Order: sequence, then C-alpha cells, then structure tokens
Amino acid sequence: MSNDKGKRAAGYKAAELIQPGMQVGLGTGSTAYYFIEKLIQRCKEGLKISGIATSKKSSDQAKAGGIPLIDPSELGILDIDIDGADEIDVKMQMIKGGGGALFREKIIANAAKEMIVVVDESKLVKRLGKHPLPIEISSFGTPSILKKLENLGVKGILRKNSSELYKTDNGNYILDANLENYSGDLKQLDYKILAVPGVIESGFFWNLAKKVIIGYEEGHAELKDNL
Ligand code: 5RP
Repeated sequence: MSNDKGKRAAGYKAAELIQPGMQVGLGTGSTAYYFIEKLIQRCKEGLKISGIATSKKSSDQAKAGGIPLIDPSELGILDIDIDGADEIDVKMQMIKGGGGALFREKIIANAAKEMIVVVDESKLVKRLGKHPLPIEISSFGTPSILKKLENLGVKGILRKNSSELYKTDNGNYILDANLENYSGDLKQLDYKILAVPGVIESGFFWNLAKKVIIGYEEGHAELKDNL
C-alpha cells in the first residue's frame, strides 16, 4: 500500500539535497509533488536554482511556486533529477510512467549527472512487473502497433481517462502492459518493445537511478545508494 506520509518524507528529504546554482530535473507524481513543494519553499527562502519539469502538471506546480524553468529547447546537462517510481528492484532498476510522463521523465533522467528516486516502501520489489508496464505509443496506426507488441507477448489495456483514451503531454497513448506472468529476461524484451515502430518509449528505466530515498509510514525517510 502506498502511503502519503512516506511520500512526503521522501520528497522533502530530496529537496534538502538541492544546492545553490543547480539545474534540477523535476519529476512527476504524488511523491515528486512533495519534492517540488519543499523546493518551492526553499526557493522562497532564497535558494537560487533552475528546473525543468517532466510533465505539464509539474511544470504548472513549479511555475506557480516561482521556480525558474529551463526551456526544453535549451536542455543540456542537469546536475540532478529527482523523480518517483512505480517499482524499484534491488539493482535500482525501475518501472515508471504510472503518471503517464515516462517519455519526458526518461529524457530528463538521462540528461542528469545523477538521478535520485523518491519512493515510499510499497514501491520496493524483488522482480519488476507486478505493476503494469506503461508503454507510450503513437496515436497514429495504434491497432497495428498493438498487434506487433502482442506478437512479442506484450498485451495490456490502453489507458483511459474516464471514457476517453488517455493522451500524454506529447499527444500519444499509453498501453499498460501486463508482464506479471512474463518469466523471460525483461531487458531483452524491452529492446524488442522499443524496436517496434510507433513505440515512443517504455517505462523501464535501466541503470538510471544512482540513489533512492525511501519514505516510511511513520514519517521519516532514508537516503540509500544501494538496496
Ligand atoms: C509518473 C511516474 C511517477 O514517478 C510514478 O508513477 C510514481 O508516482 P507516485 O509518486 O504518485 O506513486 O513515473 O509518470
């Protein structure tokens, strides 16, 4: 079970790691929300940084709180990226994209010298795949893309927003793929998924997290560089 106190503790602890002058990746989701909330508070107290958001939602939050934002057309190397995860295993491999922001999240995580992941305890898993794997796919020719994925054994449901199909900030769809019973090598599968024309990005985040902050229900959080 996710817990709000743990998420807040993790997000707030991450905000303490931000140093003056840093260029910061701002994640998406309820845990990243708390990170941005605390960062806004620190900026109001005089911290000077700039950020780039992984979603429109986080961008709106940061903008409203007065965090100066980097234009995506000027994205270079970031000092740090703080983001949440849907699952993280003992090797810090992750599934992300529960909030639909995986495409921008992956670009920003790759642009950062260091990615620190903020989670509550419920996100720690032995093997990835209990949480559906979000795959961002083109809204052009969707049935054909789904068929190709199905041939790889990747099936799921197209995410919906009430009765409408959910659209990402980039105007694409999300397939939430069920890999719970997939017993093969997930990294190999990911190469095949990414090779399907029309697949924009998958929610597997390999070798990106350098550290993780785990927030606990009692309201404290721990920074770890291995799990
Ligand atoms: C959004 C994400 C989020 O980081 C992930 O879904 C975790 O969200 P939360 O902190 O709300 O549990 O990948 O695309």
